[in-house]
Amino acid sequence: ATAVGCGSSGGDQTVLGFSQVGAESGWRTANTKSIQDAAAAAGIQLKFADAQQKQENQIKAIRTFIQQRVDVIAFSPVVASGWDTVLKEAKDAKIPVILTDRAVDSADTSLYVTFLGSDFVEEGRRAANWLVDATKNSTDTVNIAELQGTTGSAPATDRKKGFQEVIGADPKFKIIASQTAEFTRAKGKEVMQAFLAAHRDINVLYAHNDDMALGAIQAIEEAGLKPGKDIKIISIDGTRDAFQAMADGKINVVVECNPLLGPKLMEITKEVVAGHPTPKRIVTDEGVYTQDQAAAALPTRTY
Ligand code: AHR
Repeated sequence: ATAVGCGSSGGDQTVLGFSQVGAESGWRTANTKSIQDAAAAAGIQLKFADAQQKQENQIKAIRTFIQQRVDVIAFSPVVASGWDTVLKEAKDAKIPVILTDRAVDSADTSLYVTFLGSDFVEEGRRAANWLVDATKNSTDTVNIAELQGTTGSAPATDRKKGFQEVIGADPKFKIIASQTAEFTRAKGKEVMQAFLAAHRDINVLYAHNDDMALGAIQAIEEAGLKPGKDIKIISIDGTRDAFQAMADGKINVVVECNPLLGPKLMEITKEVVAGHPTPKRIVTDEGVYTQDQAAAALPTRTY
């Protein structure tokens, strides 16, 4: 059963408090725009707070939303752990919480109404499946460098897990370097520079998002190597910039992660306010794109 919010801050208009992770990536910018545009289109008053990648800012924002008696709280948790206390406060105030994009690891699933977002473990598997297929005719060792997302975040943990699950079946795949680059382009470049200084034999880069892959491309080119050829690149998200890099032959495959969650979030918000039950998990639909599809798909990319 769904708890119905009894917020009073917006008169008849539904008020949604949304705490966003930050603005670390092209994906995130598209996600924010989707939520803001969809709220306006749905006639929902959006109270938007940017946490600048800090959990303490998200906790503060959620407490402010509780004090303001918003009807519904939604947030994309920067990390998976450490939410039980504040979510319990929302529950005690009878304000329903919707998780978007990223999950929390709370054992008590009654602390939130639903979780809308991608299956990150499956994204990791899809990334690895491409690699298994691309190397199927060779028994040579494949040395992999991995740029992880924000430490402790659901996408970083799950994308690593799904990838490992698939490549773990064949000992020819070796992750020889793996470090966080916090989902940003600047860090992606910096960490890739360090990887290249320490390892001359990287065959494949697995980046947990496009921004890190695009930063790494700069580092690879500055090192006099050809991204997409000397080092094959697997990325996740599907931003226009990544599709352009794929069309240019610099990224080999992109596993899509859909940031356009706004319309569905508004639909769920209305359902929750109306007291209707919602599924506990709503998984977004996503594909996998390779270089041969990039040029044709580029004009259709909306983020
Ligand atoms: O949680 C989704 C991830 O967060 C996206 O893959 C990444 O680009 C973003 O920062």
